[in-house]
Amino acid sequence: MLKTCIKGTGSYFPPRVVPNKFFESIVYTSDEWITTRTGIRERRFIDNGLAFSDLALPAARAALDMAGLPAEAVELIVVGTSTGDMISPASACILQKKLGAPRAVAFDVSAGCSGWVYSLQVAQKFVQDGSHQCALVLGGEVLSNRIDYQDRTTCVVFGDGAGAVVVGPCNGSDDGEILSTHLHADGELWDLLYLPGGSANPPSREMVEARMLYVKMQGNEVFKQAVRSLSAVALEALEHNGLTPDEIDWFIPHQANIRIMEEVARRLEIPIEKVIITVDRYGNTSAGTIPTSLDEAVRDGRIKRGDLVLVNTFGAGFTWGASLFRF
Ligand code: UT7
Repeated sequence: MLKTCIKGTGSYFPPRVVPNKFFESIVYTSDEWITTRTGIRERRFIDNGLAFSDLALPAARAALDMAGLPAEAVELIVVGTSTGDMISPASACILQKKLGAPRAVAFDVSAGCSGWVYSLQVAQKFVQDGSHQCALVLGGEVLSNRIDYQDRTTCVVFGDGAGAVVVGPCNGSDDGEILSTHLHADGELWDLLYLPGGSANPPSREMVEARMLYVKMQGNEVFKQAVRSLSAVALEALEHNGLTPDEIDWFIPHQANIRIMEEVARRLEIPIEKVIITVDRYGNTSAGTIPTSLDEAVRDGRIKRGDLVLVNTFGAGFTWGASLFRF
């Protein structure tokens, strides 16, 4: 099996900044509550007429640019999202056309917030067996039009954005290496967090009136499960590689709530200075949180080539996972 590495990163957020104050006029909430309970100060929302692939395209181009590769070189596009442009076709196919990557095999992975980590593992298998040399792995969402602006526990936490990485075989000693990825799922608890609108809830007037177009979440139950699973899977990744938390250079937890992130870091004994935090500015972009946070920290110079990076994720399904890589 070939060793694989991350050759480039990219991300894109829509320019429209939505501060917490915006929600004060819509639901009974306050900037103070949102900041204290979630760590979120603002998020980005798309403007009408745009879709997920409009966020994915600039993220993909930036990642390819960093990798020094043209779009024509892409042989595989895997997109982790639950809010693609359409139910069908896959957003990966729409992106393939917009990007100009005609050789690429393209499909989406639906794993809630874990979509990017799941996609990374899928893409890595294609590269490891030598069948595909250049894979684009994206994660992101457009949640601004899938949140219920009458439900104060969910509408304040989510945002729009997309991130991308280029995965390929390691060529030389300068390259990093994806050491391992660990995935889990537990469908028993799916109804604590879901986005209806598929064949169980086909389009109808009743469906719209019942507000079944929007994310449903029992936030405090999800919170407890997230803390447990995020901590356990991070330890699993470390133990698998014979590493201890103090050997990690950077930790990128799923950015759902600063209190979850702080508690997981505390349990792992990773100092907060090593935790990449973006939830304050972008909220929870679900499958987008890890690749966008990775890209920010790479571009601002915190994460350097050779650094050991641990990421973990938790979301609808439930699904959760972790990946450990040398960048
Ligand atoms: O990314 C996928 C995984 N998702 C997550 O990991 C999300 C995990 N959950 C969370 O981040 C938090 O549970 C939330 C931010 C969603 C909610 O925060 P919480 O501290 O767990 O609040 P809660 O649901 O336990 O509610 C506590 C109180 C309730 O009032 P009462 O019943 O005590 O009077 C809520 O009605 O806070 C109230 N509340 C709010 N108050 C003002 C809930 N949302 C709001 C709000 N503004 N936006």
